[in-house]
Amino acid sequence: MSDGKTGQIDNVMHESRLFPPSPEFASKARVKSVEEYEKIWNEAKADIPAFWDKFAKEELHWFEPYNQVLEWNCPDAKWFVGGKTNVSYNCLDRHLGTPTADKTAILWEGEPGDQRTLTYKELHVEVCKFANVLAGLGVETGDRVSLYMPMVPELAIAMLACARIGAIHSVIFAGFSAESIADRNNDAQAKVIVTADAGWRRGKELHLKAIVDEALEKSETIEKCVVLKRVGNEIEMKPERDLWWHELMADASAEREATPLDSETPLFILYTSGSTGKPKGILHTTAGYNLYAKKSFEWVFDHRDDDIYWCTADCGWITGHSYVVYGPFSAGATCVMYEGAPNFPDEGRFWEIIEKYKVTIMYTAPTAIRAFIKWGDQWVDKHDLSSLRLLGTVGEGINPEAWMWYHKKIGGERCPIVDTWWQTETGGIMMSPLPGAIATKPGSCTRPLFGIVPGIYDSSLEEVGKNQGGMLTITQPWPGMLRGVWGDRERFEATYWSRVPGKYLAGDNARCDEDGYYWIMGRIDDVINVAGHRLSTIEVESALVSHPLVAEAAVVGRPHDIKGEAIAAFVTLKDTEASEEAREILKQHVRKEIGALAVPDDIRFTSILPKTRSGKIMRRLLRDIASGKEEVGDTTTLEDYSVLAKLRDND
Ligand code: WTA
Repeated sequence: MSDGKTGQIDNVMHESRLFPPSPEFASKARVKSVEEYEKIWNEAKADIPAFWDKFAKEELHWFEPYNQVLEWNCPDAKWFVGGKTNVSYNCLDRHLGTPTADKTAILWEGEPGDQRTLTYKELHVEVCKFANVLAGLGVETGDRVSLYMPMVPELAIAMLACARIGAIHSVIFAGFSAESIADRNNDAQAKVIVTADAGWRRGKELHLKAIVDEALEKSETIEKCVVLKRVGNEIEMKPERDLWWHELMADASAEREATPLDSETPLFILYTSGSTGKPKGILHTTAGYNLYAKKSFEWVFDHRDDDIYWCTADCGWITGHSYVVYGPFSAGATCVMYEGAPNFPDEGRFWEIIEKYKVTIMYTAPTAIRAFIKWGDQWVDKHDLSSLRLLGTVGEGINPEAWMWYHKKIGGERCPIVDTWWQTETGGIMMSPLPGAIATKPGSCTRPLFGIVPGIYDSSLEEVGKNQGGMLTITQPWPGMLRGVWGDRERFEATYWSRVPGKYLAGDNARCDEDGYYWIMGRIDDVINVAGHRLSTIEVESALVSHPLVAEAAVVGRPHDIKGEAIAAFVTLKDTEASEEAREILKQHVRKEIGALAVPDDIRFTSILPKTRSGKIMRRLLRDIASGKEEVGDTTTLEDYSVLAKLRDND
């Protein structure tokens, strides 16, 4: 292995450079050496419940103590059985008697440049008030509340207010369409939705309330809609149903004790894409999730009291749940929260924010890093980034070129990079370097966190050897694990627990190298990762075929420089001629059915889709065609050989 300073940029699969933590960083870190990491990891593996017991007792507040750490009847885990706690209490009240009470919790900046700060004490007041508002609207423990909001402090306040009274929030990313909102409202049977008049995105108003109005025409269970005035645009307020946030808050009491909740009380549902057309509501519960978000935050980001931490994710995704809200607030961190786009008013916005707030830890997505590289170093060079001490990435693999740029240009070669592998389902980071202990290799998420025991299996369910690819599983329960798919027990069992019986199937392929480092090699299912957003190809296909012009559609991912993957659709039309107009109509249709994030980059029309004799669409072939690669492999089962040529000629 080279010393990391001299090596060439290799292919991901052959990356051999090693970047050890600097002695200076390691000496101050929570975990200071690889030996210490291995010692703790082995101890945890030897007795997983005992490992978590110690932290749960010391670091969560218990209204009533638990009497059993773990009850495991695969696939059902109960953590901290019999105990009563509250996530909002752990994020807020727990800090009140301490110096953290007056520490800044949120350093918020809106896209137009407006700023707000909230201390932990102030955040506590707002959360208590909104918890009273929700209770006043008839929301009780166990009720579902949809949140469709911009990245404003009120989104975090609403999440914590739900947690305070035991209501289950379902945050819907503000890029989703009215159809998607209605689907989620109905699946969760949500009682209340919280939104804003609009949000800012790249200088434009995103009219959230108008989209919600449309969604509510199809959402039978929603009784009330609370509207935050963010932008001040004209909106319609439906009498009885729609209520202004500021009016409700003006009358709300600031006194609201956190409800003592059983450890396994549902905390939130978050919809994510899987192998079918219908997104699934991943369910997380109270105590285990809370502990895992807190500990993983502290370990991976090596959090110290004086850090200014910025996770650029939106709360509409799991990263925002665990590492904008629940992890950092449980740990008493100061968090930057930014509403808008990275390139507004110009491409230097992120670096300006880092300089202005003296951010010490930055956590972002590889897709953003690739965009920054494209925009050019001149945007970075204008700003002083010397406050940074640690960098992180999440959501997809990072190619070594982007890793090196992040390391050199943003990290000034002094900041460790934590490449964090995890999923909506896992609740928190599962594999990542611990920055003071584990030398990094560009493109590898390195090693599992404490208490996380991965296993890689081949299709005959044998564990594979070093450097052999296979299905990645997690072999032991962990506190942050999903507890189910909302309303769909069968899907929960079939998706995660059946293929490798008794083990959690992540849905990713991976290999483990000779140093025990893990390399994620892509999905085993029809999930694609577009600009860090998880989408199912079948979901996009379903949207396309729901249009009357379309007879059949097949959707695949193809490599894309910035987004990682782009969406390529192959469509056969019913009677219409292929045209630019038809293409536009279909793009608009997908935007309406799912949201802008799912609009195909390419739509190719074809008179027939290539299928095997048994009628299966030949996706591998389509992927090769979409990526411009010559068709490879066995095509003798092609139903119609001419299809291939026709597809190639298209466009
Ligand atoms: C992918 C995001 C490689 C992976 C937190 C996973 C990654 C899916 C990484 C989950 C990483 C996430 N390296 N791939 N560091 N992080 N992925 O649910 O395919 O939106 O299964 O959670 O993203 O996406 P999700």
